Amino acid sequence: MKITKAVIPAAGFGTRFLPASKAQPKEMLPIVDTPTIQYVVEEVEKAGISDILMIIGKAKRAIEEHFDRNFELEAELAEKNRLQELNDIRRISEIANIFFIYQKELNGLGDAVNYARSHVGQEPFVVLLGDTIIDTDNSQSITAEMIRVYEQYQAPVVLLEEVDPKKVSRYGIVGGTMIDSQIVEINQLVEKPAVDQAPSNLAVAGRYILTPDIFECIDQTPRGKNNEIQLTDAMQLLLKRRRFYGLKLKGVRHDIGNKLDFVKTNILYAMKRRDMGEAVKKFIKEIAAKLEH
Ligand code: G1P
Repeated sequence: MKITKAVIPAAGFGTRFLPASKAQPKEMLPIVDTPTIQYVVEEVEKAGISDILMIIGKAKRAIEEHFDRNFELEAELAEKNRLQELNDIRRISEIANIFFIYQKELNGLGDAVNYARSHVGQEPFVVLLGDTIIDTDNSQSITAEMIRVYEQYQAPVVLLEEVDPKKVSRYGIVGGTMIDSQIVEINQLVEKPAVDQAPSNLAVAGRYILTPDIFECIDQTPRGKNNEIQLTDAMQLLLKRRRFYGLKLKGVRHDIGNKLDFVKTNILYAMKRRDMGEAVKKFIKEIAAKLEH
């Protein structure tokens, strides 16, 4: 069955990014001049999907407004003949059909995804964490790559990233067998295991393709790590019904909810920009030299 729907959970408090996330969503934090969640929506668009459900929470209205039209701003830009900006602003509201639903209580990622049930219906769907940007080595949309894996195996797929073995307790970790250079057939999924209990150092990296029977699995999932309903635990139940695959990322995951990653990603993206890249590189060289003295 063709994948036509994407779900972006973006309801968390963003406690790792206080105070910036007190009154604004961490997903709206900009990388240079573009909110993180816009990169995520563009990744979905590049994969040919135009139906997106965002699961949002309190203080997340800015996300809705960002993807809506702003007629006053458009009129202002038109009057001043700032046509490039006008086009850019209009385009944001045309990227996709975006639907919103409010997660009433923050009971974990599994619970958040459960809010997509009636929107998704009986179709397979993609889940993308709204605070995670993925850059692939070939500049293709990782969602598009994952859809190809789904189509090949007709089974759920998660994106995997090798992490420092000391940091496995921060992630969902999988166990399984490599069946080619990038594909793992998964036989275990465990949320934030202790270092000595992790089945590997392959972490679930913020992108999932799930089949609709995940919703029954979420219903059967008790509260797990941090007293939350974990998507990883629900996927472990799904694994008992279906084969399950992992795609190893060739590229970089940027976790914008993490302050250091946020700063690094901003520097990297600024360096890659045509309009400021050279100036930023020069500035970094200068300050690095100054700080050494
Ligand atoms: C969530 C998931 C975890 C995954 C991680 C990736 O954890 O529960 O399985 O590895 O995202 O960023 P969180 O970062 O919300 O604690």
